[in-house]
Amino acid sequence: MKTVLITGGSRGIGSATMQKLVDTHKILVVSRTPPSFQHPHLTFFPCDLASRKDTERLVKQLEPKQIDAAIYSAGIGIFQCLESIHTDDVYRAFHINFFSAALITKRLLPVWKTRKQGHFLYLGSVAGTKYTKQNTLYGSSKAALQAFTRSLREECRTANVQISFVELGMCRTSFYDPLEFCPKKEPLYALDPKDVADFLYSSFFTFPLLGVEEITLQPQKHGIEKKRPFS
Ligand SMILES: NC(=O)c1ccc[n+]([C@@H]2O[C@H](COP(=O)([O-])OP(=O)(O)OC[C@H]3O[C@@H](n4cnc5c(N)ncnc54)[C@H](OP(=O)(O)O)[C@@H]3O)[C@@H](O)[C@H]2O)c1
Repeated sequence: MKTVLITGGSRGIGSATMQKLVDTHKILVVSRTPPSFQHPHLTFFPCDLASRKDTERLVKQLEPKQIDAAIYSAGIGIFQCLESIHTDDVYRAFHINFFSAALITKRLLPVWKTRKQGHFLYLGSVAGTKYTKQNTLYGSSKAALQAFTRSLREECRTANVQISFVELGMCRTSFYDPLEFCPKKEPLYALDPKDVADFLYSSFFTFPLLGVEEITLQPQKHGIEKKRPFS
């Protein structure tokens, strides 16, 4: 049975993906809070990916030989004008959205390259290619992740290690809980995390030879609702 590491497997898209895979794979979930249910194939690695120290502790714990694929779903959104964002949050966004993925990848990569097998899947955002007000921090963290995967793919091409990047549009998850806006309530304005998980499963786990490099998943309609007036 193959083993898949999922950061951000406790909620949202990571959790939906974990639930899709857990009967047929061993799953290592990395997040601060444990997944909402237990399963014999599930192992929880508590880690605050906003902390360099905690992430480095986690990275040392991982056994690259025992992991076959890694899905990076942990992420936070901070949408404010730059001068309103606390300095700690600038670091927090980049630690969770970018550095944690880079450090875990760096740990797994040498072994995966040697054995010529492995699949990294990164969840990005359409915000990474949109240059709009209040997207400065989040958009740049996801743009950094996308640029990282584009060069990494070239480093890995001859080693048969796959690098996939999924650019997501709005998806109805707890991502919006701390934010001042959310997708409009009607179903077509946001993806369902279960649909995203089904898509990831069929594209990346049913057809491993397909070699999906980058793909965009968007809801049919675009529109947000303000929960409170924007600051
Ligand atoms: N939802 C959208 O509309 C949307 C759109 C584009 C891209 N994305 C991207 O898709 C990915 C998944 O988002 P989602 O919608 O599933 O978000 P979500 O429901 O808010 O889930 C986020 C996950 O990240 C984990 N996480 C957050 N902070 C963490 C920390 N400090 N340390 C460890 N884990 C942490 C959370 O676990 P704990 O809280 O338990 O730590 C949770 O499992 C993210 O990378 C996001 O940027 C989402």
